[in-house]
Amino acid sequence: MNTFTYTKENEESFQIQLKKYPNSDSMMLPALWLVQEQIGWVSPEAMIFVANKLKKAPIEVHSFASFYTMFNLKPIGTYHIELCKTLSCMMMGSRDLKKFMKDTIGIEPGQTSEDGKFHFSEVECMGACGGAPMFSLNGAYHENQSVESLEKLLKECK
Ligand code: FES
Repeated sequence: MNTFTYTKENEESFQIQLKKYPNSDSMMLPALWLVQEQIGWVSPEAMIFVANKLKKAPIEVHSFASFYTMFNLKPIGTYHIELCKTLSCMMMGSRDLKKFMKDTIGIEPGQTSEDGKFHFSEVECMGACGGAPMFSLNGAYHENQSVESLEKLLKECK
């Protein structure tokens, strides 16, 4: 028995999106995104759930989910920091932010802190080069960052 199902709100959202994307291939990303918003990652059970909803084979859903780096295929920390490592951000100090994460939280890209609070990723350009260096925290962009502003933000994460 599959243990994953959408919340009532996400099922409603799924049905609304389905009207916009009647093709099951084009509905794959919105369906997976709802899963990740709900549980923080895309579990194997959730892939089977999505496959059943879209009348696809589970391996097809896995192919989509594993292709896009924004989908987490295993549980991650409560707070997901995605630091841009591309040229503008690198030149403006992203390496200092990366070092700060290692020195203070003790995690490098791809790792989750021992208490499960933070997960750290390095990603390619997120299209906010004018605000370099930048990162996203649970999807919200934070631009023109410094070690000090990162430290302050992490302290605010409860
Ligand atoms: S280089 Fe970092 S957002 Fe573009």
